[in-house]
Amino acid sequence: MEKLIERAVRDLCGSAYAIALTGAGISTESGIADFRGPSGIWTRDPEAERRAYRSYEKFLRNPKEWWEERLTSPSLLGNLEKAVPNPGHYALTELERLGILKCVITQNVDGLHQKAGITNLFEYHGSVLKLRCVSCGLRFAQDAFDLEKLRREDQLPPRCPKCGGIIKTDGVAFGEPIPGDVASQSLEEAGKCDLMLICGTSAVVYPFANLPRFARERGKTIIIEINADPTPLTEEGISDYLIQGKTGEILPKIVEGVKKAVK
Ligand code: OAD
Ligand code: ZN
Repeated sequence: MEKLIERAVRDLCGSAYAIALTGAGISTESGIADFRGPSGIWTRDPEAERRAYRSYEKFLRNPKEWWEERLTSPSLLGNLEKAVPNPGHYALTELERLGILKCVITQNVDGLHQKAGITNLFEYHGSVLKLRCVSCGLRFAQDAFDLEKLRREDQLPPRCPKCGGIIKTDGVAFGEPIPGDVASQSLEEAGKCDLMLICGTSAVVYPFANLPRFARERGKTIIIEINADPTPLTEEGISDYLIQGKTGEILPKIVEGVKKAVK
């Protein structure tokens, strides 16, 4: 593994435009369960995954009922407001500060990259800290609406003050289109980068999993995975190499190496 870490340091230092892609695996060391790992949310409760697949359709059919259910049932990911970033998140922030990493595209809705201070962040599957108008795409802070009051007064769903459209949580549900702005920005970044560092994702959910494939097709991008287990990207040779282990341990070692190299 040490050899691969050295290789990643060399590749990062030699890159002109490195970006990182992250998934739930980078947050497990902050105490947030992933989805498909051994104690993942879907691994433990396959019925919850089936329900999640039906959620968006339910929202479209009856947003009022969807919101009522949402406000009265516990969140799948637990209380994310108290969650704090771990050394993996901070290592990516450090790589951004060093000028090496140009952006992070995350599937995570937990807001931990933001809390760790990343400035150029694309939240591909949205954020639990925000709400979004499904008509005009405008985003709002979670507390911009008094949802409990709306529920008590039978005024759900919340409506967009700009266009009157229906407001949903920003988190992207299965079957829901990726919001146009992050979808196009992410594709642009994937087309532009010459190094892609993929951290803690099983890379099985689309269209996100197309980003590394797109980068691979475009040519000479170096694609590095840091993950507890091999993924389809490893098995199909989309990534050049996998550093197998925990992001909270490997990423800080990479940062250490990069700092020594740029001194
Ligand atoms: P997954 O749970 O599918 O994958 C997490 C990956 O991280 C697995 O391969 C784990 O082995 C690995 N892993 C866990 N802890 C790790 C650690 N400390 N260090 C390194 N690797 C670790 O999560 P995602 O790929 O993010 O979508 O899942 C993608 C999407 O599926 C989510 O955004 C969510 C989910 O359904 C929606 O809700 C739309
Ligand atoms: Zn709107």
